[in-house]
Amino acid sequence: MLNVRFATADDRTSILAVHAAAFGSLQGAEIVKLVDGLLDDATARPLYSLVAEVDGNVVGHVLFTAVRIQPEGQQVSAQILAPLAVVPGQQGRGVGGALIHEGLRQFAVAGVELVFVLGYPDYYSRFGFRPARALGFAAPYPIPIEHDDAWMVQELTPGVIGRVRGTVQCADTMNDPRHWRE
Ligand SMILES: CC(C)(COP(=O)(O)OP(=O)(O)OC[C@H]1O[C@@H](n2cnc3c(N)ncnc32)[C@H](O)[C@@H]1OP(=O)(O)O)[C@@H](O)C(=O)NCCC(=O)NCCS
Repeated sequence: MLNVRFATADDRTSILAVHAAAFGSLQGAEIVKLVDGLLDDATARPLYSLVAEVDGNVVGHVLFTAVRIQPEGQQVSAQILAPLAVVPGQQGRGVGGALIHEGLRQFAVAGVELVFVLGYPDYYSRFGFRPARALGFAAPYPIPIEHDDAWMVQELTPGVIGRVRGTVQCADTMNDPRHWRE
């Protein structure tokens, strides 16, 4: 039985374990450090931290954190999805999709208008994300041209894309070129 809910402080160890397991020995340590830092980062707020449970065990996590768009002064509420992880034994069963859908549902309620992501184009396009650069949004650091379509956005309020454009500025913890190499 799959249940998606907001994370609490008590979930922190489980959340970090999910990322370590999902991203593995190559990337796991870096992602765990990123998540740990973001959860305490005042510049990341408001943040949305959601966990997916199966039979009461945390098997997936998604983190959305606030971003601003330069130049300042454009009236828009925006978030970035990063990172998303599902433990290997539960992948391919809709857990990741359920976490994304619940985040988007919460944003519709909260009035978040734009959501960004840097990730697999074939995966995130299923959830409404489209290449962001062509729509007027630059990433905090240049994305290598071969991964241009991995930088994506979707609007939750019709008309925001087109009205707003510029360079995305993320939370301090994420504002490191190492996180933008994809
Ligand atoms: C990517 C990830 C979050 C997907 O979670 P999940 O619960 O397995 O995803 P879902 O069950 O919602 O969706 C599964 C579908 O996505 C597809 N998919 C998974 N990873 C994909 C990828 N890298 N590129 C394209 N499609 C992918 C699967 O093939 C499957 O397709 P199907 O429905 O046609 O069978 C999970 O595989 C994961 O944690 N991977 C390791 C960490 C990672 O790479 N995170 C993403 C960072 S951007």
